[in-house]
Amino acid sequence: MNTLLVKDVRIVDADHQLVGDILIRDGSIWALGRKLPAPRGVPVLQGEGRTALPAFVDLHAHFRDPGFPEKEDLLSGARAAAHGGFTCVSLMPNTDPVCDSPEVARYMLERAREIGLVEVYPVGAITVDLRGEELSPLEALAPWVWAFSDDGKGVEDHELMLRACRKAAALERTVYPHCEFGGLADRGLSQELMVGRDLWLCRRTGCRLHLAHISTPGGLELVSLAKERGLPVSCEVTPHHLCLTREEGDYPVNPPLPERETREALVKALKGGTIDAIATDHAPHTPPDKAAGAPGISGIELAFSLLYTRLVAPGTISLPELSRYLSLGPARILGLRKGLIRVGYDADLVLFSDEEFTAGEDFFYSKSANTPLLGARLSGRVWATLHRGEVIYLDGAVKGRDFRDHREVIRGG
Ligand code: DOR
Repeated sequence: MNTLLVKDVRIVDADHQLVGDILIRDGSIWALGRKLPAPRGVPVLQGEGRTALPAFVDLHAHFRDPGFPEKEDLLSGARAAAHGGFTCVSLMPNTDPVCDSPEVARYMLERAREIGLVEVYPVGAITVDLRGEELSPLEALAPWVWAFSDDGKGVEDHELMLRACRKAAALERTVYPHCEFGGLADRGLSQELMVGRDLWLCRRTGCRLHLAHISTPGGLELVSLAKERGLPVSCEVTPHHLCLTREEGDYPVNPPLPERETREALVKALKGGTIDAIATDHAPHTPPDKAAGAPGISGIELAFSLLYTRLVAPGTISLPELSRYLSLGPARILGLRKGLIRVGYDADLVLFSDEEFTAGEDFFYSKSANTPLLGARLSGRVWATLHRGEVIYLDGAVKGRDFRDHREVIRGG
């Protein structure tokens, strides 16, 4: 039987806060409270001085597997996720081959199961080879994926997108568009136009829509109006669009980093009900690819610390609010019994401390450290990650890689 007692920890989720213990049994949260008795033989993880949150759920990551092992693969990506406090990742289809067939989605699921660290939720491509010309076999893909996306570029052909939305509605799968029309110098407008079109397609077809990395106040305004009208729509914003600005350094990423005022507007929107999730858009690239202009930030390992340092520590948002965006919101979108520290929920937890640290090259489990945060001083360091009660990351070591004898940390058992 898989049991563990996390003791004397500050427990925070989107709904409540307390100081106490968490008893885990068979992968679920079994009991919560002050001074829970430790049943005989149950190992204890002493959490004093640390805060426990529900583990994070990332709706948007690129693990580049199959196809680009020099950037990332399912193993290095899973380790990076565990290190960053994530236990569930939804993976984008811009692999090679593209995830436009059940075989590729099945490979991802089977490989993730073999690795046994985090849960993987593949996203299938809307169009064959992401070329925007012909629909992928959406019916065949549907059993293996939760959503359809041509992430990296928007589907420009209106007729094709209309057909995709109709099929997705019939298959009860989410349409997850990358909203940017090509060929417009005004990148903000290119996003707003496509958000508007896709919301209209959602209204026409009744498909569920989840909008990737919204980065403009105009885009959020449209989402807010659509929600007022009761459309089945959700959206995500990335940590880098919430925390970094072009003025600090124009690091190449799609959509581009915001100007200061835009960033402030995005942060303000975290206070309303428009944003459902913060998703990393973890996009690892090799140094030569980056030098050649590849857009993207390797973000899954620093997402929490960046948000904690820049938004929670200064009091802009509270820790329960951050927990809503990193855990409960995305877990609900995926339909998981996760995202809260509550009896009966999966025992997916993160323990962190306020410790300050510097993210140097040796910090990363990802194969790629393409981030403008390299060398930055951050606080809110993940100390442990638990997936269904199993410790998958602890104090500088990932399960299956460099787990040293951690009996001095986990007592008894
Ligand atoms: O910056 C980005 N990089 N944005 C995307 O939408 C795709 C991603 C990638 O795959 O590298």
